[in-house]
Amino acid sequence: MATGNKMDSFEEEKCLQDYKHVFYPHILEGKVAFITGGGSGIGFTIAEIFMRHGCNVAIASRNLLKLQAAKKVLETAVPGRKCFVAAMDVRKPEQVKECVNQILSEYGRVDILVNNSAGNFLCLAESLSTNAYRNVIDIDTVGTFTVSKTVYDAYFKANGGIIVNISANLTGQPMQAHAASAKAAIDSLTKSLAVEWGPLKIRVVGVAPGPIADTVGYSKLGGSMISEDEIAKDIPLQRLGTRKDIAHTVLFLASDLASNITGTTLTVDGGSVLTSSRSMNALVEFVGRTPRM
Ligand code: COA
Ligand code: NAP
Repeated sequence: MATGNKMDSFEEEKCLQDYKHVFYPHILEGKVAFITGGGSGIGFTIAEIFMRHGCNVAIASRNLLKLQAAKKVLETAVPGRKCFVAAMDVRKPEQVKECVNQILSEYGRVDILVNNSAGNFLCLAESLSTNAYRNVIDIDTVGTFTVSKTVYDAYFKANGGIIVNISANLTGQPMQAHAASAKAAIDSLTKSLAVEWGPLKIRVVGVAPGPIADTVGYSKLGGSMISEDEIAKDIPLQRLGTRKDIAHTVLFLASDLASNITGTTLTVDGGSVLTSSRSMNALVEFVGRTPRM
């Protein structure tokens, strides 16, 4: 859908076809999850999988039209479960606070926070402006801190809870200096918050996806330049990840099955971090970087 405003454009999301439960279907019964950036991509599928396991959700990001469309698709696919939407920019603490207050007014509780919102693009460090670098850090890292702290103040401090930070194994990857820095800082924040908030029964964990098919992240970060088959060849499990892979991992970490797991980030990438993420091919082939001899 497009309204003329670039911020209002979006592709309508679709739910999983013929979903079969592998977890107990009521594993999140009675819980409420807040998923930032849940109107699209991986966040949308996390919302769907959570709803399919008994959870009511709240999704929030900048584009309200996209969120409202996602709500309609989700509530139609999973009758009986609710999806609350609110517009907010994670870079604006007042908007985040207002959004968390709205979620608490709607549901009276929030048990799980998934920090999934992010911004990214491919750019060599030499072409990156300070503002571009700062912008990604602001959305990913500062945004994750702001939303976590706001939910902590408003609810988790008194009641406990679970935070799942969506990360990525990007360290050393070409054209990702900005996002690699942001996600490394998020992984560090995951550990610090897990330590400080552990005694309050707050678990803080992360999930680091590899390349995930059918996402904005994948198409923006080179997916349109190389075929999926070519990318898969360089991954030990010989396939791209799916949104469902990530959503099921987040579900596991947010469930009681993971009740003794905190302060760690789980990589879900078919083993690609071992073989491909630091590949020099991208730099040499796509950017034409000629090594100095
Ligand atoms: N390459 C280099 N610099 C870029 C860029 C690109 N592709 N896109 C934006 N920038 C720079 C801008 O030039 C600007 O820097 P400047 O002021 O020095 O010129 C800075 O980044 C901010 O850009 P702006 O367009 O104002 O940011 P925004 O807040 O509107 O959007 C983005 C944030 C750029 C991250 C945008 O891509 C976005 O909204 N992404 C969300 C979805 C997404 O990325 N999903 C994938 C998740 S993995
Ligand atoms: P996506 O659909 O673009 O998801 C990003 C979401 O963040 C969007 O819904 C966007 O919504 C929201 N967002 C962006 N800027 C925001 C802001 N300033 N405030 C609030 N929300 C904002 O992309 P995706 O590929 O599914 O990525 C989801 C997560 O997975 C990200 O954390 C990404 O880094 C991570 N990841 C993805 C891959 C992959 O292959 N796709 C791999 C590794 C990690 P609005 O535009 O409405 O704000």
